[in-house]
Amino acid sequence: MSWIKWLKSKAHKTDFSQSALTIPEHIAIIMDGNGRWAKKHHLSRSLGHREGAERLHDITDACGRLGVRYLTVYTFSTENWKRPAAEVQTLMDLFVEFFHKYDSMLRQNDVRLRFMGDKTALPASVQQTWEEAEAESCHRQGLQLILAFNYGGRQEIIKAAQHLAQACCHQTLQPLQIDEQHFKAALFLPDVPDPDLLIRTSGELRLSNFLLWQAAYTEFWITDTLWPDFDETTLLEAIQAYSQRDRRYGAIETNSSR
Ligand code: IPE
Ligand code: IPE
Ligand code: MG
Repeated sequence: MSWIKWLKSKAHKTDFSQSALTIPEHIAIIMDGNGRWAKKHHLSRSLGHREGAERLHDITDACGRLGVRYLTVYTFSTENWKRPAAEVQTLMDLFVEFFHKYDSMLRQNDVRLRFMGDKTALPASVQQTWEEAEAESCHRQGLQLILAFNYGGRQEIIKAAQHLAQACCHQTLQPLQIDEQHFKAALFLPDVPDPDLLIRTSGELRLSNFLLWQAAYTEFWITDTLWPDFDETTLLEAIQAYSQRDRRYGAIETNSSR
């Protein structure tokens, strides 16, 4: 089904046909609320995370059809190690399971898999899955699905600062030469453009250490919907809101007569 037909098929729930949609090139999502969803349904937190992983599959599929180029999802933060060991283990296991379960769907949809975060602190099975998924999909031309796993924005910035400081020590760079381009080049995925739209589910009004550098001019959209309840219609609501934003980047409206 073409995405226009698909959009129309969704229009009965929310009227998206009235306004033209601007599809963001890069969407980032803080997939929050798995625990609250589980509690609401009298289920274990593990089952909440499992349901959340299914939604990641659905939203990846939807973003591919819409023509989004990059989808970055926050799957495990550097602070999530503070959770009980059993929950951390579930999240590690789900990471491995997700790629095995959806390998053929991701291949069929030409989805390229990329990662950002500190791989070295992760269990061997996670590191292996990460490396295999990256290597096997590196030639794919469709949507780039980027998993922020064991990721922290501060950690990423510190790592970049260390890299630049080292270049200065080796005299391949002078401290005063360091500009935004040098800094961006030292981040995890320098070729990926900054996110246009950042969605956070479950209503929290914070970044929780996600994409601190990259989100400087990103448009935010927060919903009370818990991540396991997030669907294509909610995604379209976010895109519709984004389409109406005036991104000024500190300047004034292009056609402003005032
Ligand atoms: C998000 O859901 C998933 C991860 C942080 C890995 P939570 O587990 O944070 O869900 P809540 O916030 O407790 O509802
Ligand atoms: C952010 O959610 C991290 C992920 C979604 C992976 P958290 O649930 O960890 O964030 P806080 O603790 O509410 O800020
Ligand atoms: Mg949470």
